[in-house]
Amino acid sequence: MKRTVSILVIVLLTLSLFGGCGSRKAPAQSPETAPPADVSEPGGDTDSETSGAPRESGDVIVVYFSCTGNTKPLAGYIQDELNADIYEIVPKEPYTAADIDYNTDCRASREQQDPSARPAIAGELPDLSGYGTVYLGYPIWYGQAPKIMYTFLESMDLSGKTVIPFCTSGSSPVGTSAENLHASAPDAQWKDGARFAAGTSKKEIKEWLNTMNAQNELSLRIGDREIPVTWQSNAAVDALRELARSGLTVQTSPYGGFEQVGSLGAELPTDDSRISAKAGDIMLYSGNQIVLFYGSNTWEYTRLGHIDLSKAEITELLTQNGITITVTNR
Ligand SMILES: Cc1cc2nc3c(=O)[nH]c(=O)nc-3n(C[C@H](O)[C@H](O)[C@H](O)COP(=O)(O)O)c2cc1C
Repeated sequence: MKRTVSILVIVLLTLSLFGGCGSRKAPAQSPETAPPADVSEPGGDTDSETSGAPRESGDVIVVYFSCTGNTKPLAGYIQDELNADIYEIVPKEPYTAADIDYNTDCRASREQQDPSARPAIAGELPDLSGYGTVYLGYPIWYGQAPKIMYTFLESMDLSGKTVIPFCTSGSSPVGTSAENLHASAPDAQWKDGARFAAGTSKKEIKEWLNTMNAQNELSLRIGDREIPVTWQSNAAVDALRELARSGLTVQTSPYGGFEQVGSLGAELPTDDSRISAKAGDIMLYSGNQIVLFYGSNTWEYTRLGHIDLSKAEITELLTQNGITITVTNR
């Protein structure tokens, strides 16, 4: 990595201010950067706020590593904004100030250069089975994610989950740091990573989350499988997005040998017209029912979207006695 003078100055400043993450000296924090009180303690506890209650697939967890305390408050802001759970990756062998002394042959430098380095994680790993989305936070070390992030990803099953990386750095962009993590969780649905400066405000994080929600729109799952969907741009889908903000689960039944239909439990705005629905189409019927087609039918519907899978895959997914679909606003 090209070590620019500016990076060096910032890194040196960071290190001289904060010391190592093993020492866990609290960095001087303005109210803007102070983490919320309920951020998990070292040792890998997840926030217990929702523990015990059955999880809706689509719930969000923020997983982060923060060696000198810059990434931690940002993770807390995401947790707050999304009402998410949180898990802190804590190294089993804490990093001392000497371990992260950037310009020396320090432990961090050696690990980052060693393709096989997988620093151990302290405490228990989280159970991610009920989460649909994982925000993954880390500091940039020599242009990349710290190797402990690889340890984490390779210890977990993230298949089908949406993973959204975010990082803090002195000045380096997210660069290839997020892409290089993909191979450690190849079956996850990776979103583009975002880089923030230390001290990024809660307001800025909120704006970022809003932008992503607008882009990512809705996610549809059938059982555990994330289904690629092109959503319609209309008032019904806008209302569905609102309805799905805290996760929406619909139990459907087959009907007519061509569709699965289930109640949304709420009325959406309709703009019905007579449509010949085809396999893969997702329609709103009667304002309050979602219909997924594996065959054809002509009726009054409002279009919601289309499943982007082959006819064979759609048939296999939908020709069942009933299915559970989960719609979430990521
Ligand atoms: C070992 C080490 C390497 C770093 N390498 C870079 C780098 O390549 N580019 C950069 O902009 N910042 C670099 N930094 C600075 C950190 O990315 C930055 O301070 C980050 O916000 C730290 O996050 P944290 O406090 O959550 O650990 C490095 C810091 C350390 C300790």
